[in-house]
Amino acid sequence: MCGIVGAVAQRDVAEILLEGLHRLEYRGYDSAGIAINHQQGIQRLRRLGKVQALGDALNETPLSGGTGIAHTRWATHGEPSEINAHPHVSSRIAVVHNGIIENHEKLRQKLKGLGFEFASQTDTEVIAHLVAHHLGQGDNLLGAVQQAVTELEGAYGTVIMDAQQPEKLIVARSGSPLVIGVGVGEHFIASDQQALLNVTRRFMFLEEGDVAEITRREVKVFAKDGTGVERSVIESNVTHDASDKGEYRHYMMKEIFEQPTAIINTLENRIVGNTILCEAFGAGAGDTFATIEHVQIIACGTSYHAGMVARYWLEAMAGVSCNVEIASEFRYRKSFVRPNSLIVTLSQSGETADTLAALRLAKEMGYTASLSICNVPGSSLVRESDLAFMTRAGAEIGVASTKAFTTQLAGLLLFCGAIGKSKGVLNEWAEGALVQSLQRLPDAVNQALALNDSIASLAEDFAEKHHALFLGRGDQYPIAMEGALKLKEISYIHAEAYAAGELKHGPLALIDADMPTIVVAPNNELLEKLKSNIEEVRARGGHLYVFADDEAELVASEGITLLRVPHVDEILAPIVYTIPLQLLSYYVAIIKGTDVDQPRNLAKSVTVE
Ligand code: AGP
Ligand code: GLU
Repeated sequence: MCGIVGAVAQRDVAEILLEGLHRLEYRGYDSAGIAINHQQGIQRLRRLGKVQALGDALNETPLSGGTGIAHTRWATHGEPSEINAHPHVSSRIAVVHNGIIENHEKLRQKLKGLGFEFASQTDTEVIAHLVAHHLGQGDNLLGAVQQAVTELEGAYGTVIMDAQQPEKLIVARSGSPLVIGVGVGEHFIASDQQALLNVTRRFMFLEEGDVAEITRREVKVFAKDGTGVERSVIESNVTHDASDKGEYRHYMMKEIFEQPTAIINTLENRIVGNTILCEAFGAGAGDTFATIEHVQIIACGTSYHAGMVARYWLEAMAGVSCNVEIASEFRYRKSFVRPNSLIVTLSQSGETADTLAALRLAKEMGYTASLSICNVPGSSLVRESDLAFMTRAGAEIGVASTKAFTTQLAGLLLFCGAIGKSKGVLNEWAEGALVQSLQRLPDAVNQALALNDSIASLAEDFAEKHHALFLGRGDQYPIAMEGALKLKEISYIHAEAYAAGELKHGPLALIDADMPTIVVAPNNELLEKLKSNIEEVRARGGHLYVFADDEAELVASEGITLLRVPHVDEILAPIVYTIPLQLLSYYVAIIKGTDVDQPRNLAKSVTVE
């Protein structure tokens, strides 16, 4: 998703803002812009394409001044272009905005009727003219923004600058995150703390509906009803080592190989001896879990696939029913809340608009409690949930989620154990066995990573393919879905996943020599069934790539390429079998020459609907 960076300082801030945009590049965008407030008024530069293009423009036309705003855009209204890039202006006002103004057309007509002229096709431009309009009605800048946002419908994180007041910025958030960076005699604003880690580690997170007036020395925050509120300042422990790839060619590869360490961090001080600490999910989590009879999991994309796996574990080991839904579906259907239900949201970023909106809807529907399993401390999802579990994967920069997924699964295993234990369904022996399996997980992932070289050469087979089928059964079916998503999103090859038993009900018609079929086949009670599904494909001239357990009696033969995955505890198989699929998608993308870390059309954190 797009990014915002702003500053009110004594020193020139253009380079700080540009560095902030670079640190937000992983979120995905199509254009960038900057505006600096200077004695001669507001100076603005905008460029289509990469942040570097804006940097080059700044080198040609340096902008000096201590107050400024900058933005990376991910277009929703109006094509990617310089004219549609932010900041947008209206007389003395400049604005940057993350989100979607849903009633922008109506406001555009109203403002045109008031004599305002529009230069862009964006929804954002209505904010600039609205603020200018209210200023013209006699409001001060803060009041003008407070008035303007009451007319906005939709999601916004927005920063407003006034040429006539170069010592302040006004910010407002509803639906899109904004965080204030607290410096010494200077303040900053950004859509993500990552953007400011080079200038401060102290942050104030704005809440839904907040409007704040920021000067060099003061931050005044006002709630939606206009009353002054205090927002605490926290010391961030987010590491910014993510700002380099080390010896890796791409962030995605670095993050794939970080998974053993990330999982160790996820499990740290959540397991004591052979027991799971329920309090790892928040104060009183154990008491809450004991009352739960149903779990509703809500997520998007890769996080949704993690939820799909958890459903198998929850119903098998915790004695609770579980439903898993895509957030953008859940939030628009009339759903029924069963008694004693827990809402669980899964999200790497904690800012996914659909997941956030679904949580807010669920909280009005009478769920007993809400739990967020998330990778970003202080994110909206974490702050708006009753309970929270941080996956501690470290910043994930690659748009294609990898270590966030496997640490979510590790966290979900702990969660299922905690629920089962709290409800007296998981006895001490079973809890101990689960804990011992989890302690073997980092090493098991390491062993799967050893497949790297064989998968790199296997990837050649996919270079000319345009379609692929991923098959799995049971808790491997969501892993097949995740493998298909990975291949799609970074190599642009169409791929879909099927529950292997479903093949004969139609998809078998797709099988031919040009439709490679990837099968995840750990050694479990479904393996025999899976073998007949493999035969179904082979008999029709399909070529299969089977990732199978060392101990499974599967042999390479005509039409079957076999890749041996080291034997793992059955409960760990979904996590471990993800690794070769991540590697496969990475190496195919390398061959295809796509932008692995920032695939076309995608964003790392989808903060708009
Ligand atoms: C995963 O590789 C994708 N980048 C995408 O599907 C992602 O999982 C989805 O947008 C959800 O993001 P979240 O986990 O930050 O909520
Ligand atoms: N909706 C605004 C636009 O299209 C902002 C998009 C974004 O969040 O970058 O310009």
